[in-house]
Amino acid sequence: MNHQQCLLCHDAACTRACGRLDPARMLRRLYFDNEAGALNALAEDNPCRECAGKCETACPLHLPIRDIITSLKPQSGGKKEVDYSCLKTDFCGFELENPFLLSSSVVASTYEMCARAFEAGWAGAAFKTVCLMDIREASPRFSAIKGDNSRIIGFKNIEQLSDHTLEENIAVFRKLKKNYPHKLLLVSFMGRDDREWAYLAAKLTEAGADALEMNFSCPNMTEEHTGSDVGQIPALVERYTRIVREHTHLPIIAKLTPNVTDIRLSAEAAGRGGADGLAAINTIKSLIDVDIDPTDGIYHVAIGGYSGKAVKPIALRFIAELSQDPQLTGQHITAMGGIETWKDALEFIVLGADSVQVTTAVMQYGYRIIDDLREGLAIYLQDHGFRSVRDIENSAIEGIVSTETLDRSFIIYPKFLRERCVGCQRCYLSCLDGGHQAITMKDGHPQLDPGKCVGCHLCVLVYPQQAIVSSNVKVPKKKD
Ligand SMILES: Cc1cc2nc3c(=O)[nH]c(=O)nc-3n(C[C@H](O)[C@H](O)[C@H](O)COP(=O)(O)O)c2cc1C
Repeated sequence: MNHQQCLLCHDAACTRACGRLDPARMLRRLYFDNEAGALNALAEDNPCRECAGKCETACPLHLPIRDIITSLKPQSGGKKEVDYSCLKTDFCGFELENPFLLSSSVVASTYEMCARAFEAGWAGAAFKTVCLMDIREASPRFSAIKGDNSRIIGFKNIEQLSDHTLEENIAVFRKLKKNYPHKLLLVSFMGRDDREWAYLAAKLTEAGADALEMNFSCPNMTEEHTGSDVGQIPALVERYTRIVREHTHLPIIAKLTPNVTDIRLSAEAAGRGGADGLAAINTIKSLIDVDIDPTDGIYHVAIGGYSGKAVKPIALRFIAELSQDPQLTGQHITAMGGIETWKDALEFIVLGADSVQVTTAVMQYGYRIIDDLREGLAIYLQDHGFRSVRDIENSAIEGIVSTETLDRSFIIYPKFLRERCVGCQRCYLSCLDGGHQAITMKDGHPQLDPGKCVGCHLCVLVYPQQAIVSSNVKVPKKKD
């Protein structure tokens, strides 16, 4: 039993039952990798030690909440003030209180939703893509690949654009800007031709948007030459960007599709057209939930956009390529794709993102994830002596190693922690059938043959109980 099994209930019964602490908030901190925040909230006082455990009785799963919380070792020196001013940054000149924005989707599609998100602490929103098309959505429209505890790993949607009229959306923008002048209103939009791109750019500028995001990347469009069809053709990206540039004085951002082999071609085209920044990634074309037992004899499948945790490595690769491209220097990069925790966001920032956006994690867990995004990143910056989030932008770019320059002269062997081994033999099996037959079993425990081991680390990855770790020692390979 651990915090990963917490259901993350809204208005949680454990917190209502406890009179001293907010156990739901503590568990949420742990769930979202914010252990430093949990320790800081506890400071030197751990009231769970002498408690009767009403929270556990109230918990629908009766989780051992007291054990989880008492196992945290409070830091010496007491509670420290978290200084959020280090999170301040900007979006093409618009001051942001932190780098966290909602990305254009259902999570930012009405006045009430954006207002609630802003109150919760989000610095702004890319509003759901506005258009002049007649949008009729399908039902149901989502499917998912799940991991432990029903956690969504990969999420597929077939949603299109805002199904509100332009006039309705403009009324929302005016009200949002009136009531939340300091929150960024980035309005996403999509035209079907030159005339529509020009018309919408002018209308949305008048409506009070702070910046415009051109959607060149929705993979679910039914009309030809819209969405990711455009993002795949650099000449069209450049043409529409130029038209938008001519019809607004606002910063303009090109939202790019990952459904290409080289994202830099469209990014550079957007730059030539006059874009001030780039947003990536939109969803990846995908197929999941193939109907293998059809009642009508037809195997139904729908291609849709894939997002969430599973796409993060792909999104990180695209962001790194954008920030490494000298032709894109000076472009604001607003990054997204699988961000759930402050650590995820940090990875994008050190690879060159100036701001980050989120959809799928909000759909799964709600706007409240902003609490740990902010707290986790602020504590990290503070603990590492950084005064501003800007100080770490791009800092990992130089460390990216290409396949050509990778040092292949050494082996790092795995290290077996005998006391943690439960004798499941999974390491043995994987090495036998998927590795180099370097593990044998002796008295129920694995033995490594360094003569055969190539240091691939498959055993470290497959072992469920963390009983095999990297030795982190580089042993020079023997010369042939
Ligand atoms: C249900 C849903 C609707 C979306 N609608 C839009 C949209 O209208 N415009 C847009 O630019 N991107 C849209 N996206 C893409 C997201 O803004 C984002 O680029 C993508 O989901 C990756 O981020 P994530 O992993 O945090 O969700 C949508 C994504 C989802 C899941």
